[in-house]
Amino acid sequence: MSKEIVLSGIRSTGNLHLGNYFGALRNFVRMQDNYDCNFFIADLHALTTNPDPKQLHASVKQIVAEYLAAGMDPEKVNLFIQSDIPEIPELYLLLNMHVGIGELMRTTSFKDKARKMLGIGAPANGDDEEAFEKQIIGAETNKRVNAGLLTYPTLMAVDILIQKAKWVPVGKDQEQHLELTRRFARRFNSFYGVDFFVEPQNFNFGAAAIKVPGLDGSGKMGKSEGNCIYLTDDPKTLTKKVMRAMTDEGPKEPNSPVSEPIQNLFTLLELTSTPDVVKHFKDVYADCSIRYGDLKKQLAEDILKITTPIRERVNEYLANDDYLRKVVATGAERARVRASQTLKEAREIMGIRKF
Ligand code: TRP
Repeated sequence: MSKEIVLSGIRSTGNLHLGNYFGALRNFVRMQDNYDCNFFIADLHALTTNPDPKQLHASVKQIVAEYLAAGMDPEKVNLFIQSDIPEIPELYLLLNMHVGIGELMRTTSFKDKARKMLGIGAPANGDDEEAFEKQIIGAETNKRVNAGLLTYPTLMAVDILIQKAKWVPVGKDQEQHLELTRRFARRFNSFYGVDFFVEPQNFNFGAAAIKVPGLDGSGKMGKSEGNCIYLTDDPKTLTKKVMRAMTDEGPKEPNSPVSEPIQNLFTLLELTSTPDVVKHFKDVYADCSIRYGDLKKQLAEDILKITTPIRERVNEYLANDDYLRKVVATGAERARVRASQTLKEAREIMGIRKF
């Protein structure tokens, strides 16, 4: 029996952090034996926020090395770079003919990023959506919300649909994009009366998608939050970050409730440490003898146990351009087999010249 198709990608906007590792990369590696896996670096998506070209060059190479260092086996997985697949931008153009600008403008991630670009704060309850839309349309050229950002969901849908992927392992923040992908697939199929695109589902290993917290007391670990531990942080930098993590004044009486900054440290410990270590720190929290310094020291050590071998391998891969080039060339070649077939059929279905 042929294996079910899995596809996922990470945008190349900087080095990978623990959130990427536990939320995505680790799951990718776990899936590689049992599924037809396609993992890629979404460098075209990275362009939507107009990165510095030099940084984008470096980031794409870095993430290829990080994928490999985390245990991805290019013999088992199609590991490729989005921009190496010319069929993707062509199908993106075609699919856009069936995507409404209204539904794109209502996408949460678009509104968030557009707000950031225009320097408008987070939406308040009862915010006037119409005024917001006018602001986007009327924005000065130096504060422009670009059309690529608006059509980000079309491009992501194409990444998935062009490979006919059934499973897409992504975090909770990508749910809405997946929902749009299913909607576009259904719409295309019903408009042309075909059973062509496959509606993808999110993939979780039994449990709900995990949220990896940051070190600044609240929220998730994210590049734009500036609260990240990177896979390639050297031991000194990493330990310093952990030791500076936000805490509280400590439990004053036995079995006190746990505040958010401390819960975040426990969550990170649960992800990186052994159950008996976690239990030890919960016990000393409960009886008020906990010293946060000890907890952080332990946490830094346990994170380093995971990241050190990855960091060392990343450096080996980064020094081997020929090998990296070969990996992504092979990945692209394999990914293009299905992509070109899907594109060819989509063109025909839509009525592009046949004679
Ligand atoms: N939007 C995803 C993110 O920001 C990255 C992405 C692009 C993606 N295309 C995809 C993820 C296709 C899964 C499938 O993380």
